[in-house]
Amino acid sequence: MIMEETQKFHTVRGYQLLEQNKKLLTSAMEDYLEMIYRNSLTDGYMRINTLSDLLNVQASSATKMVQKLSGLGLLDYKKYGIIFLTENGKEIGKYLLERHSIIEAFLKYLGVGDTILLETELIEHNISVSTLHKIELLNKFFETSPDFLQKFEQFKKACRDT
Ligand code: CO
Repeated sequence: MIMEETQKFHTVRGYQLLEQNKKLLTSAMEDYLEMIYRNSLTDGYMRINTLSDLLNVQASSATKMVQKLSGLGLLDYKKYGIIFLTENGKEIGKYLLERHSIIEAFLKYLGVGDTILLETELIEHNISVSTLHKIELLNKFFETSPDFLQKFEQFKKACRDT
């Protein structure tokens, strides 16, 4: 329970920080922060080379972006190309990763296939937090009501067949 409350707090804080930085953070910056957060979960840091590989960009563009994010106080860029998120960077990264997961899970329930990652990327940067919470609630409903999901699957199949 305490854990849950803390997580809730973190998400809200991450969102608030994101709102404060909204005019400063572009979609590309959000992608960087999400990727860095995702990859720092195990080791607590990420290498800039890995980052540019995963984002499919030149190392020089990754370095430029990392310097911008460092200027906003969201990460520290150390020697040997190692990146650490600051506390604010972590809060925002956590929110961005959760946002991504919620949208991806929702599209999966809808039955989106091969294009799911691309579509998640397109939606995530433009969705409002209130709509995101509504989707999260619907996901939870699907999760906890397998018979409803089954009915929905049958309905989809019936619509296809007619
Ligand atoms: Co994403």
